[in-house]
Parts: sequence; C-alpha cells; structure tokens
Amino acid sequence: MELRRGWRDILMLPGPTDIPEESYRAMGGRLINHRGDEFREFHTQLIEKLKKVIGTKQDVFLLTCSATGGVEAAVSNTIESGDKVLAFVGGQFGERMAAAARYYSENTTIVEVPWNRAPTVEDVERGLEENGDADVVLLVHNETSTGTLTPNIDEIAGVCRRAGALLIVDAVTSLGGVPFSFDDAGIDVLVAGTQKCLAGPPGLAIVVVSQRAWEKVESLKRRPAYFDLVLHREFMSRRETPYTPAITLFYGLDASLDKIFEIGLDEWIDRHRRGAQAFYRSIGELGLEIYPQPRFRSPTLIAIHLPKHIQDTDVAKIMAEKYGVHVGVGVSKEKGRMIRVGSMGQVTAERVKATLKALCGALNEYGMRLDYESVEGIVEESFSR
Ligand SMILES: Cc1ncc(COP(=O)(O)O)c(C=O)c1O
Repeated sequence: MELRRGWRDILMLPGPTDIPEESYRAMGGRLINHRGDEFREFHTQLIEKLKKVIGTKQDVFLLTCSATGGVEAAVSNTIESGDKVLAFVGGQFGERMAAAARYYSENTTIVEVPWNRAPTVEDVERGLEENGDADVVLLVHNETSTGTLTPNIDEIAGVCRRAGALLIVDAVTSLGGVPFSFDDAGIDVLVAGTQKCLAGPPGLAIVVVSQRAWEKVESLKRRPAYFDLVLHREFMSRRETPYTPAITLFYGLDASLDKIFEIGLDEWIDRHRRGAQAFYRSIGELGLEIYPQPRFRSPTLIAIHLPKHIQDTDVAKIMAEKYGVHVGVGVSKEKGRMIRVGSMGQVTAERVKATLKALCGALNEYGMRLDYESVEGIVEESFSR
C-alpha cells in the first residue's frame, strides 16, 4: 500500500509522534534469534537504558503490546477478586484503567475529579479516608484526553504507602517528558508507552514493578497467562522474554533512546517544558481557551477548547490536509469540542510554529481573525530559555 502521508507532514498527535530517522533505519535491521546470545546482550542493554530514563534500579519489563496491554499487565498482576480498588478518574484514560481493574475486582470504586484538573494529594487523602482500607490506588499521571498533569506524584505515593495501598500509575504520556524518578517517587507499579515522549515506535509497553508490589504479585491465587509478571521475571533472569518479542520495535526504541542520551536526558525533558510554554503563552495571546486549570496544565499534551460553533474534526482535517499537521480531537465528554496537540518526543520551535500556523489558518476559515505572526516571537523566546 502506498502511504498518503507526505514526508513533510508532522505528527502532533497525542501519540504516536514522529521518531528519529535513526529509529526508522534501525527497524530495518535483520531479525536475530530471540533465544540467542546476541539478543540477550541487546535486551539487557536496552533495559538498562530504560532504567536510566525511568530513574529506577527495580524491575523493568518491555512488553510486546501497546500501552493498554501494559495497564492490563499492571492490574491483572496486582488485583484479584475482592480487593478494594480506588480509581481516581479525571478523563478517558482514567476511565479505561478503572474498567480494566473492575474486570479483576468488582470492588472497584471510582473517585471522579473535574476533567479540567488532575487529582491532587488532598483528593487522594480524602478518597482513602472515605473509602478506608483500599488495597490498590489507580491514577493517570498525565491524562492525555484532557491535557492535565497530576502534580506531586511523590506525595501521593507517600499517602498511599502510609494507608497500606499499592499505587499503580499510568505514565504513558509523561515518561520522558516530565522530570521523574520512579525510585524517588516511591510508586509501586508504573506503565509507560514508547510512542510518546520517548519518540519510539508504537506497539510496546514498559512496566516497572517495585519490591513492595512484588509481594502482592507473588501472593495472587491466579495469574494471567500472557502477562504473568512472575514468568516475565523468571525469563528476565535469563535476559530473555517468555514469548516472541517484537524485535524490530525493540531496535527502533533502542535507537530512540540513544538519540535521547545523545541530546541529554535533562535537555530532552526540558524541551517539553519549553514547547509547552510556547504553546500555552501563544494560545493565551491568540485569545483561545486552554482547557485545564493553570496549575494542572500538561507539558506534553496541549488541550484547546474550541468556540461552540466550531467542530474539532473539521479543524483537524484542515490542519492535516492543508498544512500537513496532524493533531488529536476531543474524546468522551469533550468529543467535538477540543483540539489536542501532542507536544511529545522531538519537541522543537519549528514544530510548535507549524502547529500554531496550521491552527490559526484552520480557525480563520471559520471567521476567526487569528494572527499567527503575532505569536511567532513568543515561540522563539520560549525556546531560548
Ligand atoms: C494516558 C494514556 N494511557 C494509555 C494509553 C494507551 O496507549 P496505547 O494506545 O499504546 O495502548 C494512552 C494512549 O494515548 C494514553 O495517552
């Protein structure tokens, strides 16, 4: 099939994002025996690189499935029938996590927070108090459906620990885009994606398991089949995976991680901050509405609320077809009303400018008078500090 996407098009989606040329090239590499020494060596090095990005010395697994599979692995290994689960939900991915947990325990309670903000330390304290004796708390670090980031995840982890609950975090769109250390934060299980801030290929999930979480995992009466983390740990001790890994995707991710280290992890993460600053300041200047409350605005997903008479899918279509800039639209409660820009991975001033130009152009077709030129300087300034 011939792809319609032009090479000059850019993916400013909530994932996948554009990956480095080196990653495309790496994925064209020859397959190797996944039970051979060459794979074992490569797999070990890849996991070590991931550990650096995640800030952990604990167990990291690279699963052959998309990030949703990683969420399934996390809940199916830590939750069993009767367990009291508290799911903090402020968007679609929180809803999905809660739905995944409910399959394993009917005793799953949702604590909903307004969708224009993320759960806070106080929300978690109150939720735990009101629903006493929770075994597991579920939380999405960066809610990609609304563009909110949960502040103080380390404090939330402390609250959960003191209450005797495991904290499982979906960090699918924050890992690599937000300063973060799994070990310092004290989270129990973390799930991340590869096709977001790590600028890797889609189709893999990263799962991290703390020592405390292992106790629960090992105590389960029944274990999942494909996602049995005890089995994954056993194979990891031989530097292998239990089932056939997506070898070419591993190559692609490895090249993306090399790119991140070449640029420097701190610099890579800081580019997300600068990109978000450029977006938020420009969008404010243009007089458009930013969906989340200021304190909760995500550095990796920019959610713009559209005026009532403008349909998001129409705007996204113009941005893609006329400007070659691909963005996400509203989902769930906000379906029809939102443009969601993924500012993930290779964040540059050029990409931010191209997106703002396309957005202004598309909205001006609906009678708005947005002057892209008026914000170009803001973008440059944001990237210079
Ligand atoms: C926060 C969050 N969690 C989970 C997922 C699911 O990822 P995947 O589509 O790779 O299964 C996404 C995808 O956008 C996400 O943004």
